[in-house]
Amino acid sequence: MRHAIIIGTGSYLPDNRLTNDDLAKLVDTSDEWITSRTGIKERRISTGETTSDLAYEAGKRALSSSKLSAEELDLIICATITPDSFMPSVACIVQQRLGAYHAAAFDLTAACTGLIYAMAVATSFIENGMYKNILVIGAETLSKTLDWSDRSTCVLFGDGSGAMILSSSEQKSGIMNVILSSDGGKREHLCLPAIPMANPFVKKDETDFRPTISMNGQEVFKFAVRSITDLVKSVLAKTGLKEDDIKYVVAHQANARIIEHAAKFLGISLDKFFMNLDRYGNTSAATIGIALDEMVQNKLLKSGDRLILVGFGGGMTSGVVLVEWN
Ligand code: ACO
Repeated sequence: MRHAIIIGTGSYLPDNRLTNDDLAKLVDTSDEWITSRTGIKERRISTGETTSDLAYEAGKRALSSSKLSAEELDLIICATITPDSFMPSVACIVQQRLGAYHAAAFDLTAACTGLIYAMAVATSFIENGMYKNILVIGAETLSKTLDWSDRSTCVLFGDGSGAMILSSSEQKSGIMNVILSSDGGKREHLCLPAIPMANPFVKKDETDFRPTISMNGQEVFKFAVRSITDLVKSVLAKTGLKEDDIKYVVAHQANARIIEHAAKFLGISLDKFFMNLDRYGNTSAATIGIALDEMVQNKLLKSGDRLILVGFGGGMTSGVVLVEWN
């Protein structure tokens, strides 16, 4: 049986830092409100770099840390809800820029759970023997989708990208278990519309329409806490592991209070939950990849450590991956 192991990670964030105090000059908010409700202190906001620019930089760094050459990649999957265009995909742009001439490439949409879904797809391609080396990227420029006059959403998000290389191995480690879940019945709680339906036969005039993120914060909060709690319990039950067998939980970085509530319900020490959302805010599909790369950079992970990566997001979607570090 082949296993998918992580052989490289990378991340990239735009240089431009926007602090809570900077935001308080744009909308009626304060550092105190944002910090106490979310834990976020600052985020990075693109000054022109596109999602494919961020994805390319993170992908290049993951490739370099894996020691593979671009020609050895078989597939590139980019998880994003903020592509440069519907066509071509971000993954195809990255493929050309990296010179990954033998790789197939496509984008995948599962909102903030995107990286977990992309890891699941990559793992199944590797386990069934179809591909050997896969670049998985989560990349977003959410700043272009925000209503910058809406204080209830614009304070939460940031731009960034995280990536990893998954590779086929005989070693029984790496991606040990995956659970994905969706609940389309709750889809109205978190929305980002695309091009409105328009053609000579549609009566409604929506020519001034600009798509922005809207959210029912309290419903998303409840969904998020329940998703983390249920999925962590499920993956532990499926693998026969106990909380003590887990070194770190890397939950989607949306809000520190969500993570604190989930930790309490699970009875797992908050110290095991890696957090960097104070510095980057919610970068949607990118958060878990950025966090994992920071953990690698900071030498927090050693062979045999077990980590749970758990995400939730629009759709609504959620998912968990159990990793044994190799
Ligand atoms: N600054 C100051 N006041 C604000 C701000 C702000 N940025 N935003 C909202 N308020 C005000 C509201 O207007 C309201 O005022 P009112 O009482 O006078 O009407 C008051 O604060 C309370 O608003 P609520 O929306 O009830 O605040 P809540 O405590 O629910 O916190 C928050 C809002 C932080 C969004 C919370 O609901 C939350 O964390 N939800 C989870 C959503 C999330 O994390 N989404 C991320 C994207 S989703 C994803 O990644 C899957």
